[in-house]
Amino acid sequence: MPDGILRRLGIADLECLVRLERAQSHPWTRGQLETTLTDGSVCVLGIESGGELSGHAVVARLPFEAELQAMLVAPDKRRRGLAARLLVAVIEQARRWGSERLLLEVRASNRAAIGLYRSTGFEEDGRRRAYYPAIPGEPAGPGRGTGAPREDAVLMSRRL
Ligand SMILES: CC(C)(COP(=O)(O)OP(=O)(O)OC[C@H]1O[C@@H](n2cnc3c(N)ncnc32)[C@H](O)[C@@H]1OP(=O)(O)O)[C@@H](O)C(=O)NCCC(=O)NCCS
Repeated sequence: MPDGILRRLGIADLECLVRLERAQSHPWTRGQLETTLTDGSVCVLGIESGGELSGHAVVARLPFEAELQAMLVAPDKRRRGLAARLLVAVIEQARRWGSERLLLEVRASNRAAIGLYRSTGFEEDGRRRAYYPAIPGEPAGPGRGTGAPREDAVLMSRRL
């Protein structure tokens, strides 16, 4: 069983969330995080230990579905089951809302995230071509086209 307390985050967690987001190549801004934490149709879940956040997930309520908008685990806490634990809590939240499906989109090159989502029952629904800007300094790879400046989004979902 992985360590850490899983709970819903609020505006008091903004600074911890800003610190955790710095692990990303494209971190959410403080303003985006603040808006997300105060949006009544969004739930931000986090796992913390020792007063620091190890990971978080953002899920938004849509009219009939829910959308996983972000998922991040600190680099030194990965492969310990934290994201899988967050996803279980995301699914529980979406079920409480009465959502029929949980949707997400992910970079085609993001093997870790696609592995995580497949292992928790998500299936690929389609792709949005050249949806994401390229990650600076990364070579073209699967789903990006040869030398293409942008990367495909893989659209995934699972029934709730
Ligand atoms: C994707 C991410 C959230 C996974 O977090 P994590 O806590 O390491 O994931 P878990 O330990 O819960 O892994 C659960 C399962 O996901 C899959 N998985 C996770 N990381 C993987 C990797 N690097 N390669 C392949 N599969 C992986 C495995 O099936 C794993 O089960 P296993 O460890 O029993 O094999 C983490 O790598 C991350 O924060 N990445 C950067 C941000 C990001 O890409 N977010 C997703 C945006 S859509």
